[in-house]
Amino acid sequence: MRNAVARNLAVPSPFPPLPVLRGRIEVGVLRMRHWIGRLLQGVSRGNPHPNPPPVYRERGKKLGAYRIAPAGSIRLAAVIAIAALALTSGCRKQDMARQQKYLPDTSSDLYADGISSRPLVEGTIPRGFSRIDTHRYFGTVDGQAATTFPANFPTQGDPLHKALLRGQERFTIFCSMCHGQAGDANGIVVRRGFVQPPSLHLDRLRTAPVGYIFDVINNGHGAMYGYGDRVPADDRWDIVAYVRVLQFSRAVKPADLPEKDIAALKLISP
Ligand code: HEC
Repeated sequence: MRNAVARNLAVPSPFPPLPVLRGRIEVGVLRMRHWIGRLLQGVSRGNPHPNPPPVYRERGKKLGAYRIAPAGSIRLAAVIAIAALALTSGCRKQDMARQQKYLPDTSSDLYADGISSRPLVEGTIPRGFSRIDTHRYFGTVDGQAATTFPANFPTQGDPLHKALLRGQERFTIFCSMCHGQAGDANGIVVRRGFVQPPSLHLDRLRTAPVGYIFDVINNGHGAMYGYGDRVPADDRWDIVAYVRVLQFSRAVKPADLPEKDIAALKLISP
């Protein structure tokens, strides 16, 4: 149809021509029809036949008397045949699915609780989702907010520096739009009208256990939604460490700083 319109308007078709392929398919169909016809007539293969089967010829040469159906209808027949094949083969694959069975967690008369599947054994863990280390994954130790970082958190040197840099980066990405770059609760989202969080420099939050801040990131708090599904546990600890750095930077007494930092401070404000 599209081609016919294109031809009438003398607009070149946007599709590349497929004459050779079409020719082969056409001849294939013609040969099939020829032999089916012969079988129906009861003519055996060896007998001479007044109408020899068509042979594929080069493009441009006519198929003459053997052109029985217009190319369009043969193409349509081929499309229908392929679609029918695809549909029926799709159905066959469903044979196993179409049988009487219970789907998980639907109702059944088999068990007293009326549920088709049995509850998982307590403590079952999906492969790769072990969360036995509650300190690392939930920020709790014996059910209380942890006061220390988990065992796998670096304590010094390059690894600690890397963790803090990552914490800074993650804080900038996930927290600063509300809590502000320095934790003063003046992020862009707040300036546009979102509930203002408390400053991270409040005494209450400065002295809160690290496990508490971890839990706030994990599960949210009041108007703040949780980041447990977006920020992996180890990243959450990096963020907690960076929050501690921010708090320390604001509340530290100069006497607690190392000598060289005190000297640097004197340079800025003698
Ligand atoms: C969409 C804005 C928003 C983002 C993003 C956000 N927070 Fe909050 N946060 C809040 C608000 C609002 C509160 C106060 C919630 C309340 O008290 O109802 C809050 C509270 C807190 C508190 C204090 C909880 C308390 O006990 O008062 C901490 C700590 C905190 N957020 C840390 C973070 C960290 C870390 C991130 C980044 C992972 C983060 N927040 C991301 C909005 C946000």
